[in-house]
Amino acid sequence: MGGDYSLPMVTLSRDRIVVVTGANRGLGYETTKWIAMLGATVILACRSVENGRKAVEKINKEFQEEKKKGTQGLCNYDHLSMDVMELDLSSLSSTRKFVKEYRDSGRSLHVLICNAGVAMCPPEITEDGYEMHFQANYLGHFLLCAELLPLMEANGEDCRIILVSSFMHLNCGFDTKRIQGIFPYTLYNRIIHYSRSKLYQVMQTYSMRRLLEGSNVSICCVNPGWVHTDIIRGLGDYGFLMNWSYRIVAWAGFKTMYQGAIVTINAAVNPDKPDSPYYTNNVPAYHSSTSRDEDYQKRLWIYTLECLKPFMRSEIWSRLTSFTMATEIDDS
Ligand SMILES: NC(=O)c1ccc[n+]([C@@H]2O[C@H](COP(=O)([O-])OP(=O)(O)OC[C@H]3O[C@@H](n4cnc5c(N)ncnc54)[C@H](OP(=O)(O)O)[C@@H]3O)[C@@H](O)[C@H]2O)c1
Repeated sequence: MGGDYSLPMVTLSRDRIVVVTGANRGLGYETTKWIAMLGATVILACRSVENGRKAVEKINKEFQEEKKKGTQGLCNYDHLSMDVMELDLSSLSSTRKFVKEYRDSGRSLHVLICNAGVAMCPPEITEDGYEMHFQANYLGHFLLCAELLPLMEANGEDCRIILVSSFMHLNCGFDTKRIQGIFPYTLYNRIIHYSRSKLYQVMQTYSMRRLLEGSNVSICCVNPGWVHTDIIRGLGDYGFLMNWSYRIVAWAGFKTMYQGAIVTINAAVNPDKPDSPYYTNNVPAYHSSTSRDEDYQKRLWIYTLECLKPFMRSEIWSRLTSFTMATEIDDS
């Protein structure tokens, strides 16, 4: 993978199918737009189908504008190939329903981009009883990866899982006693909860890289950096001043959405398969020693499988747990 903001010059076949979660706005929108404009079929996995459809309409318009401008590298099709499916990652039933509908559609899958995310939101427990950042950013995506993996393995082609993590994962450690976070809410720290969900994505990447060794499926994390999106709307309750201060700083100094999305687009489409666990600005980058700790990774893996047991198909559960059994945890 190269190290700049330019779009990889590749032509993608319509048969190459890419799923992007949280595709209706922000980095997910930008990622979807450019991958679709390079020719692949993109499925927008959104919690609001209506917002997903609006995004498709907007992308199609922007495609015609890019063609008029003579932008290099666009596919030769008249219309882009996109579809919208409903997915709410804060509900394990919704995530499981998405998987079932996807499998029933008979589609193959080549690239799964786990992009959707919430950040710094007030304390909230999901319908499944988990802390919101933990579930929407990490746990729901883990279920998606585990359940869709067989589809990618079955096609035998170059398949990729990309987890959109963050440099914010550097802000926290791993607490073996409180994997989900600190409760009660009087001690709730939204930065730590967000950071932890992003740390867990890096740890998942390491564990899944071991699971997938020698297979046609690769997995990596990407860090977009500071990007000017609506990501901090979770801080809405902090008031007008906080929100506008952030917007001014973001406008003045943050990456544009295109600049932020390019690391994900690259990992998804670059003919050089991403072979490092974590990328920033399209190059392998530093990630915390905590995220690299194999003992912590195994503990998280076991905890995650316990949370997901009622929602996973038994054959997937057995495969992932027997993979854990083959490893040892250091209890010293
Ligand atoms: N912006 C940055 O500076 C930055 C930096 C590092 C990493 N990131 C990561 O980049 C990713 C995208 O962030 P962004 O900046 O583009 O944020 P954004 O503009 O707020 O977009 C977030 C997307 O995730 C979706 N989403 C949120 N909760 C969901 C749920 N429960 N189920 C399904 N979809 C859900 C949102 O859907 P709705 O429109 O329905 O809310 C939206 O499409 C996140 O994972 C974030 O952690 C961002």
